Amino acid sequence: MGVPTSVSSSAAPGLDLDAIRNDFPVLHQQVHGHPLVYLDNGASAQKPEAVIQMIADYYCKDHANVHRGVHTLSQRATDRYEGVRGKVRDFIHAESTNEIVYVRGTTEAINLVASSYGQAFVGPEDEVLVTEMEHHSNIVPWQLLCERTNATLKVVPFDDRGELILDRYRDILNERTRIVAITQVSNALGTINPVRDMIAMAHDAGAVVLVDGAQAVPHMSVDVTALDCDFYAFSGHKLYGPTGIGVLYGRESLLDAMPPWQGGGEMIMQVRFDGTEYNELPYKFEAGTPDIAGVVGLGAAIDYVAGLGLDLIDEHEQQLLAYATARAAEQSGMRVIGTASDKAAILSFELDGIHPHDVGTVLDHEGIAVRTGHHCAMPVMEHFGVPATVRASFGLYNTHAEIDRLFGAIDKAQELFGQ
Ligand code: ALA
Repeated sequence: MGVPTSVSSSAAPGLDLDAIRNDFPVLHQQVHGHPLVYLDNGASAQKPEAVIQMIADYYCKDHANVHRGVHTLSQRATDRYEGVRGKVRDFIHAESTNEIVYVRGTTEAINLVASSYGQAFVGPEDEVLVTEMEHHSNIVPWQLLCERTNATLKVVPFDDRGELILDRYRDILNERTRIVAITQVSNALGTINPVRDMIAMAHDAGAVVLVDGAQAVPHMSVDVTALDCDFYAFSGHKLYGPTGIGVLYGRESLLDAMPPWQGGGEMIMQVRFDGTEYNELPYKFEAGTPDIAGVVGLGAAIDYVAGLGLDLIDEHEQQLLAYATARAAEQSGMRVIGTASDKAAILSFELDGIHPHDVGTVLDHEGIAVRTGHHCAMPVMEHFGVPATVRASFGLYNTHAEIDRLFGAIDKAQELFGQ
């Protein structure tokens, strides 16, 4: 197969892929008699030994509840927990740790903003704006808000390449727009949206902006201050960290003005039956015992990724994407869904005459893990008139040889189904 040599070279200089792959124990196994090729990083990335060991180390030495005890273990657990808050602040270039709220994941972060900010600042005449390419977690919380408040949900469409139509965005924005909720990277298409410009346009219209960064943070360096976003949400588990932990960044003045979301321990200063005084930021939004081990693991994941360098990771993944895209262009009977000019390392596709679930099953039998389905983005599937796609999503440990394995398995699926 004639693949352009310019994109078939191995890792970007600076990334030692053999060493990196040795950091991930789960990669070294056989699935159905074949070495595992893990290409489902968009759903959840694998964990390096450094993350796994950090969590074990925390439980072996320092576990206790945070902010609650004068005893040594509680102090140590609190130091670890708060230390990671500073790491997160630096990682996304926020100004203050008061702006870093620990949550369960991106979904919870968006629900927090929709419930708290939405309840306080969105009314019946107002509009909330999302895009056609959002994940369900950046659609449904806003639908719920609109049902509760009688506000109107507006949708910015994308074109057939999977790029947002910015003229339509400009037209839809108006003085009634209260909130714009946009993804930085589409999980189903890979499109990287021009969020910085979109944020500036929303601010001109007087709206606040929430950016869903779940698919962006593992692939590119993020600077919430330079973006000038009001809220930014991401999950630990897509960033090579544990499941069950994520981050909501919120501009301090906005978080300050928002009512608490969940009530309980930790989020209060003083509780009386005639009225409760809430805690300061960020604790006002952290009711109950948090996922301390998850936070500790997230800190190790950030260290790991930052240690490799997001610029190098991005360069490597862009090489993988270019190689996979070039191979896809030469594969007969294959249609790539999502061909935006600016994409993260996600290749969604369908094969003529073969249901994506059947493709996924054949690939699994070849040891290759991909996601098949609607990717929690049913409006995207509707736009392209497909029930589902096959999605290969690349991570920092993937190789060109693994993409060759993917295309070898695609050949097999086509042969098997007579295509
Ligand atoms: N949001 C995750 C995905 O895209 C689960 O697969």
